[in-house]
Order: sequence, then C-alpha cells, then structure tokens
Amino acid sequence: MKQDLIVILDLGSTQNTVLARKIRELGVYSEIHPHDITAEELKALPNVKGIILNGGENRVVDDKGIEIRQELYGLDWPMISVDYPQSQCQEKWNELPDCDALKKFLFEECGAKSNWNMKNFIEDQMEIIRKQVGDKKVLLALSGGVDSSVVAAMLIKAIGQQLVCVHVNHGLMRKNESESVVKVFKDELHANLVYVDASERFLGKLAGISDPEQKRKIIGGEFIRVFEEEARKLEGIDFLGQGTIYPDIIESGTKTAKMVKSHHNVGGLPEDLKFELVEPLKQLFKDEVRACGVELGLPHDMVYRQPFPGPGLGVRCLGAITRDRLEAVRESDAILREEFARAGLDKKVWQYFTVVPDFKSVGMKNNARVFEYMVIIRAINTVDAMTASIEKVDWEVLEKITNRILAEVENVNRVCYDMSPKPPATIEFE
Ligand code: XMP
Repeated sequence: MKQDLIVILDLGSTQNTVLARKIRELGVYSEIHPHDITAEELKALPNVKGIILNGGENRVVDDKGIEIRQELYGLDWPMISVDYPQSQCQEKWNELPDCDALKKFLFEECGAKSNWNMKNFIEDQMEIIRKQVGDKKVLLALSGGVDSSVVAAMLIKAIGQQLVCVHVNHGLMRKNESESVVKVFKDELHANLVYVDASERFLGKLAGISDPEQKRKIIGGEFIRVFEEEARKLEGIDFLGQGTIYPDIIESGTKTAKMVKSHHNVGGLPEDLKFELVEPLKQLFKDEVRACGVELGLPHDMVYRQPFPGPGLGVRCLGAITRDRLEAVRESDAILREEFARAGLDKKVWQYFTVVPDFKSVGMKNNARVFEYMVIIRAINTVDAMTASIEKVDWEVLEKITNRILAEVENVNRVCYDMSPKPPATIEFE
C-alpha cells in the first residue's frame, strides 16, 4: 500500500467532511468511520497512522452520549479528540494555531507522510479490488455519468475482462451519449460491454403517462427490470460494481447524522440476485472522483460533464412523452451545448439544458400559420443544487441559440428563457 491513513471516527460531528478534506489538503489520506468500529476492524484498515475522535452537535443523541469502544483506548496509535461547534469548523482548521496543531499531530505524532495523490490512490484501490474480487466477475451498470464511468475505468484497469459493463439506453439519453459510451469503453478501453437498446420498451411504457412522479417511477422501475434481465443472462457473477461516492453515503445518513435523502445507485435489485458490492470511490468527494477519472485517462468531456438526471430527457419532455417533442428536446439541447461551449460558458455555468412543454402556440413560417411547440432554455448556477440562481447569459449568445433552434429543430416556433431561481422553482421542471 502506498498511502498512510488517518482515521476520523464520527462521534456526531456534522463537519467530518471538513476535517477529512483538510487532512487530504495537507497531503495525507483520511477516511471517516463510524464511532462503533471495533479494534479488529481498525486493524484491518491499511497503513493507519493515527485516529481523530470528531465530536460535535450530535454527540448526545436521545440523552445518550456517543462513545467509542473501550478497547480502542488500548491501541498503539496516537489519538486526539476534537469537539468544535459546526459554525467554527471551517475557520478553525484553516487558521493558524489549530491548523498547526493538526499538522503537528499528523506529521510529528503520527509520523504520517504526505503521500496522498490520485496516482497512489488508484494503485492502492487496484490492489484492494484485486484482493476482493480474485478471479471472479463484477457486473456494472454503466450509465455514462461521471461516477459510473470512473468506476468502470478503475475496474477495467484492475481486473480487465472480469468486469462486465451493461449500458442500458432508455431512449432518453442526450444526443450521441450512448454512442460515446460505446466508443470510449468498448472501442478505446476494450471493455467487456453489453449494450442494450431498450428505447422502444421505455417509450412504450411511458406512452400517455403525464404525471411526473409516475414517469420517474416507470423509468426507474423499468431500468432495474432491464438490468436484472441482463444480469440473469450472465453466468458466474459474484460482485456488483457501484459508483457510490462519499456524499451519497452522508446524504443517506450515517449512524450519528440525520438522513437527508436515501440514495440508491442501482438500488432495488431483487433479493435473490445476491451480489457483494465493489465500491472503490466511496471515500471520494466529487472533485476527487473527477481527478481520478482524469488520472485514469478518461476524456475531459466525460469527467467534467454537468449533472444529468437519472430519468434523462424524460423529465425535460414535459407531460406525456411523444417522439416529436423528445426529438425537439434532444436536438435543442445539443445546439445549446454546442453554443455554450463556443462561448466558453460550458466551463462557467453549473447546469444548462432545454425543456419542451406539451402545448403549442401559434406562429408563422413561410408566410403560413403554424401551430408548434416551444423550447425553454434553463441555465443555472449553484453550489449544492439546493438553491440556484440563473445565469445572466449574454443577449447575443441567446439570440444565436434561438436562431439556430428555430432554424434547425423541427416542430418548434418559439424559444423562451427561464428566469426563475430555486426556490421557488426547482432546477428541473418535473
Ligand atoms: P431539482 O430539480 O430537484 O434538481 O432542483 C436538483 C439537481 O438534481 C438533479 N436531478 C437528478 N439527479 N436523478 C439524479 O441523479 C434524478 O432523478 C434527478 N432529478 C433531478 C437535477 O438535474 C439538478 O442538478
């Protein structure tokens, strides 16, 4: 193993990640573990150099104090306890006496080395993956999103053809997205990739369904069914690869933190499909996942792509999905992305997309009355997607995009710009 490890034990702090990130910033790999970890489990972690007990707001839950197991006090590793209120954490770790004390603990008392970098992280993970998987096979649902792409690249490097990737095209992908997944993973990285074109099946199930929640449920449920069918066709698979990243774990609730929302990466697979999970990114933050992808040689566009909802264009083709409107969303989205990239906005704006509502308005084309759809452009900035403000896109860029959409996208005679912040609007329309 290449990297030293500092273990943070979560004793109810809401700011574990601030501390973990600070330690990684200082060049030492750190992981957060639950307070009730056993001495045995700690000893099984590679290269532990020291332990930090991180207390905080939730240190007392239901009148019971959170404590570590007594046996941990008898271990040989240096151990410190910190207990900062939430409001002070960020500044404390960045200011000097506290930052100095942290450095002293890491480098002098624990003797940790500043050897945390992506190259070492990948090498260590490959060793862990090979040890876990042996000569068995791993199945991975490869959506083409950042997390699943990075896991795929890591697993291909670690176990090559023992990884079986399944890419389900639900017909709600952006223009050329599935093609690019096949090109990168099958043609360039020579992955063992099963491509399933389930577009017709999904569109069939969605026909006439206009309720947003019902649409989402159908897309999610059908995805699991298709993936399950493919999994059953394959023989001798013992492991399931997942692109779980650290924020997914935090948002799903740790033992001492309240749950924000439950996260399922593949989620909901039937009980009789029993797989052991392989989750090599589960200790990484999003920016670290991207750095990992770059180090693994994935294309920039794939690693830095903007967030894209699981139900895809299905939630941007409003109401009951029809093929003509779905095509209008896909084509207008491609134009928007092209023009944003040309104007340099792709690196500045957090998320941008088009939406097509399910009503028509009157217009004129070639001196004749037309009754056609409209495209709405949405471009927002946010830090955590909980609130968002709109991007004040340059007028000329908007005019150019509008003119291209009106000229190139069929069945569209009107383009609007969404001026609404979140709240009260959400980022997506459905
Ligand atoms: P809202 O619309 O709730 O979106 O303001 C917040 C962020 O989440 C993305 N989003 C999703 N991401 N699966 C995802 O992985 C989903 O079902 C989903 N729905 C919304 C949305 O694009 C925005 O970035």
